[in-house]
Amino acid sequence: MTNCLVCKNKIKPFISFGKQPIANGFLTSQEFQKEYFYNLAVGFCPICTMVQLTELVDREKMFHTNYAFFSSTSRGMAKHFEEFAQFIKNKYLKNKHDPFVIEMGSNDGIMLRHFAKEEINHLGIEPSKNVARVAMSNDINTTTKFFDEELAKEILSQYGQADAFLGANVMCHIPYIHSVIAGIKLLLKPKGVLVFEDPYVGDIVQKTSYDQIYDEHAFYFSVRSINNLMKMHKLEVIDVAPQNTHGGSMRYTIGHIDTHKISPKVKKQLKIESALGLHRPKTYASLAKKINNSREGLITLLKNLKKQGKRVVAYGATSKSTTITNYCKITPDLIEFISDTTPIKQGKYSPGTHIPVKAYEKFQNNHPDYALLFAWNHAKEIMEKERQKNGYKGKWIVYIPKVKIIKSV
Ligand code: SAH
Ligand code: TYD
Ligand code: ZN
Repeated sequence: MTNCLVCKNKIKPFISFGKQPIANGFLTSQEFQKEYFYNLAVGFCPICTMVQLTELVDREKMFHTNYAFFSSTSRGMAKHFEEFAQFIKNKYLKNKHDPFVIEMGSNDGIMLRHFAKEEINHLGIEPSKNVARVAMSNDINTTTKFFDEELAKEILSQYGQADAFLGANVMCHIPYIHSVIAGIKLLLKPKGVLVFEDPYVGDIVQKTSYDQIYDEHAFYFSVRSINNLMKMHKLEVIDVAPQNTHGGSMRYTIGHIDTHKISPKVKKQLKIESALGLHRPKTYASLAKKINNSREGLITLLKNLKKQGKRVVAYGATSKSTTITNYCKITPDLIEFISDTTPIKQGKYSPGTHIPVKAYEKFQNNHPDYALLFAWNHAKEIMEKERQKNGYKGKWIVYIPKVKIIKSV
């Protein structure tokens, strides 16, 4: 039993993935001995409906000067963030005198660059110093502290309030969420907005995309759980918009309570959530069963291919694949290596099961019989590129929403 991070009600896990390493903790063989593990388990709070981890990892173990996740590794994501920035400019900054935008978790500057290049006042908050350095070298104003209420007060005295406070794939990372929301509330102008997006629990339930569950993701949000949380701070959800990114995300727009017109899309999404049963414990019990079946299917397939002497290489050393490899016990005897374009991951080993991560050229120069698509959220971008430009003739193995072998999308 633990306490809900939002409303303090007692909750217990509906699934446990056992001991897991740091999802982005790609490591050298010298580091195998001292690798850190924690117990990965998820619970649902029947009072405030928040889905959340029941054991947390210290933030300094995940976000530091060797953080392996650089946002700008996918063209699709670069385009997504260009559009996100444009959406904010059109909807919330137009006709504003000297607007100010803050982004939490700004990483290598994938989104803020579109504000910086137009000389719009901005501030990035990015504690992982190696990725923040990339943003700073591109003239993006960045602080490398962790955001919380205390930092919000510092920012307020130095810069004043913001027209828009943005976040992508970061709100769900922060277990001290009340401090974060209280800080954002202080920083928002009376008509200012908080706009953030994160993987959506409705997609996880519908697609059994359990690989979204790992140390960095303390929360799995729904519109209902976010609205409950925001109301505790006299804020409210004023708009929502589903996104295709990260295998299915939701963008939430939040304002001070009773200040904005609420889009009818909010009510519509709440209805969809009721139909999906996102407020019911039994939905999560059933998800746990599906996750278990998915593991059986994947491991059986990989073992059969090994028996047949097929070469299988994985594609994309994603954070989320750490849950798959460790939960399904996928070791280097089943997967030759993982191909990845991120320099900091290459030459290292995957967390926990220690599959070698190699540069993309190793894949390209010696195509396997099967490519296990760990970066399934970029399926279209990757499969098109490999088939049309790079002549890959092998098959793909995917496991979301179902374990299957496909030729291409
Ligand atoms: N927004 C980017 C990066 C997401 S990864 C994208 O969507 O691609 C999450 C980022 O949030 C990491 O770079 C991490 O260092 C940062 N982060 C984690 N905790 C934070 C906090 N308390 N305040 C600000 N950033 C944080
Ligand atoms: P991402 O989808 O952001 O996953 P996560 O949030 O789970 O870490 O990561 C994509 C990974 O895949 C990243 O390490 C880069 C790699 N990648 C390639 O190697 N080739 C590609 O064509 C693409 C799009 C990504
Ligand atoms: Zn709760």
